Amino acid sequence: MIPAMDLKRQYGQIKKELAGAISRVFACSNYVLGEEVKSLEKEFAGYLGVKYAVGVNSGTDALFLALKACGIDKNDEVITCAFGYIASVLGISYCGAKPVLVDVNIRDFNIDVTKIEKAITSRTKAILPVHLYGQMCDMIPLLRLAKRYNLKVIEDCAQAHGAKIRISNGKKWCMAGTMGDVGCYSFYPTKNLGAYGDGGMLVTNNKQTYQQLLLLRDYGRKDRYEFVLKGYNSRLDEFQAAMLRVKLKHLDQWNKKRQQAALLYHQGIKLDNLFLPLESLGRNHVYHLFVIRTPQRKKLQEYLRKQGIGTAIHYPIPIHLQEAYRDLRYKEGAFPIAEQIAREVFSLPMFPELKSAEIKSVCQKLNCFKR
Ligand SMILES: Cc1ncc(COP(=O)(O)O)c(C=O)c1O
Repeated sequence: MIPAMDLKRQYGQIKKELAGAISRVFACSNYVLGEEVKSLEKEFAGYLGVKYAVGVNSGTDALFLALKACGIDKNDEVITCAFGYIASVLGISYCGAKPVLVDVNIRDFNIDVTKIEKAITSRTKAILPVHLYGQMCDMIPLLRLAKRYNLKVIEDCAQAHGAKIRISNGKKWCMAGTMGDVGCYSFYPTKNLGAYGDGGMLVTNNKQTYQQLLLLRDYGRKDRYEFVLKGYNSRLDEFQAAMLRVKLKHLDQWNKKRQQAALLYHQGIKLDNLFLPLESLGRNHVYHLFVIRTPQRKKLQEYLRKQGIGTAIHYPIPIHLQEAYRDLRYKEGAFPIAEQIAREVFSLPMFPELKSAEIKSVCQKLNCFKR
């Protein structure tokens, strides 16, 4: 059996380091907002080349608190994409604001930047691009548009730890989360940088936003028993932070392994009418997922299952057709690319510890598929 994802293999490799990190927390016995969270925030900000980082209890909360810190309120509209994971949109709803959806492009499954302007109204306050599957969106035209209309940009980087985009005529690389007003990360266990439970992180270069985020994640607390706003309890815990510090050191190497696995897939898969992920020019794609597309998804997935190959669908229903978002009143056909992708995509096994022989075996089995 070749699993779609296997976290045990990674645990086996870093078991000792993790045990050391856990003991450190017990020895200190400070379990909430202690030295580990502080150190991880500093190290993660350093890794991204950004001024500030704030640990929170999930990627979903990171998005919600980012929108709050940017002043998003009821009656506001926030533009995001019609295809992806529902958590990207939930934060907008938590603020009481209205998500306004835009179709994605078939090339990289990210928001179609050319369709954003049409969705802007007098109520639009922000754009929330999602760097899906490990590849960044087309940020330069998106940021230009945001500047022109005075909109905040909140980046969903839940699937893009280590992803980069080349800017300034190729002279500079920018990391996901550092180009907009706030970047939001998830440390859900299966992510490229995953905790052993829930966790998330916000990053920003804006001091005022940073200070607001510190208050929002900790009840609105200014001093021990002094509260200046109605905040939330959304803190990253010390155990998760300690283990994430261990894993952050391995992140680049793990991402390289994902890229090597992607290269092997690209070289090995020779099946007609099967679309492999495309890397846009000037992107460092970190392959959180290796998502392929075919109109024969059901048949191909079933065939692979019988061959002992695990696959998954990310994601089978676009946001506008989810029951939870029926209130937005979008109809089937509203976002044709999102709907097509939802019908056709599925993910092949992808994690850093996947062996070359396993990838070759997946390619071989795929190539033998009879339509
Ligand atoms: C694109 C995207 N955004 C947001 C989230 C939410 O993150 P979390 O599960 O940490 O709340 C996820 C993940 O699970 C995600 O994939």
